[in-house]
Amino acid sequence: MSLATALARPELLSLDPYVPASWEPALERLHANENPWRSMGDASIAGLNRYPEPYPLTLEARLAALYGVAPECLIAGRGSDEGIDLLVRAFCVPGRDAVLICPPTFGMYAFAARVQGAQIREVPLAAELDFALDEKALAAAVSPTVKLVFLCSPNNPTGTALTLSRLARLANALDGRCLVIVDEAYAEFSDQPSAIGLLPAAPNLVVLRTLSKAYALAGARCGAVIAAPDVIGLLRRIIAPYAIATPTSEATFDALEPARLALARERIARIVEERERLSVALSAIPDCTRVFPSRANFVLARFRDAGRVLAIARDAGFLLRDFSHNPSTPGCVRISVGTADQTDRLLTALGRAAATR
Ligand SMILES: Cc1ncc(COP(=O)(O)O)c(C=O)c1O
Repeated sequence: MSLATALARPELLSLDPYVPASWEPALERLHANENPWRSMGDASIAGLNRYPEPYPLTLEARLAALYGVAPECLIAGRGSDEGIDLLVRAFCVPGRDAVLICPPTFGMYAFAARVQGAQIREVPLAAELDFALDEKALAAAVSPTVKLVFLCSPNNPTGTALTLSRLARLANALDGRCLVIVDEAYAEFSDQPSAIGLLPAAPNLVVLRTLSKAYALAGARCGAVIAAPDVIGLLRRIIAPYAIATPTSEATFDALEPARLALARERIARIVEERERLSVALSAIPDCTRVFPSRANFVLARFRDAGRVLAIARDAGFLLRDFSHNPSTPGCVRISVGTADQTDRLLTALGRAAATR
């Protein structure tokens, strides 16, 4: 029995897949009750009057090439948010199974679990050790009902990344017991290699990637789950048809053209540089008591008075993310890295406020 079969919600294994209208682009479509005319101003290539490819195999092949995996190891969805949701729905029996998370971390893991009626086990990151993962505590917390362990590297909101050797050790220690999901939404901003390279030797490892951050497509909603074919096969059984809208697919193909990829790489390098400049400048602000080292496109910083920092930023026209009320990040504010001009204006406002205190 494959690992996916052993861990899946049993009722999904006998679920008849939904059969959408067939996808045969060479033929004229009189089988899907579409409108024969495009709406006025429809500038898409395929025409928005037509349904997109029901299961976007062409796009998935392109994404598989981007991430260096076989197409049967990848499923595309509406951002990695949909990947998180699919995993929880595929593997957690409501009221019985659990997901394990390591707070502070991305909120969608717990949210998806709550929506599914799954339980949540927490193994907090050690704030006093720059949010290091307690590997032993994690392994000890994986009871038979824990189906999914969500790790985020680089982690949102701390910016910390896990090494490949730790991930490999963890995945191997938990093999056969649960899936270890590594959310790499910010991987392109990190100097750590991707966990995708571990997949051939770790059948219980799942990697989440997104086009939202490094490829500047947050508004398009495109992400991918990358895993062993049996895990991907199970997710294919439950994903809604037409999950990837035509504008999303066209924007993604466009963004992955060589010239656009080169520009994306250049911008990633600029964001990384700007992140380092922002981190150094924040540390010099007297009210800032800690800047956590980040490998993502944001910086988490602790202030004596986070509320004041948020208010100053708002007066200067900026929204920052407040993490000060979270028990594991008291006084902390997360700042996304913007353009050099935005960094300058934010730092000027924070610096001026410090001088007039
Ligand atoms: C760690 C992490 N994973 C996933 C996401 C969601 O990404 P997507 O836009 O692909 O749904 C985010 C968004 O902020 C994130 O921080």
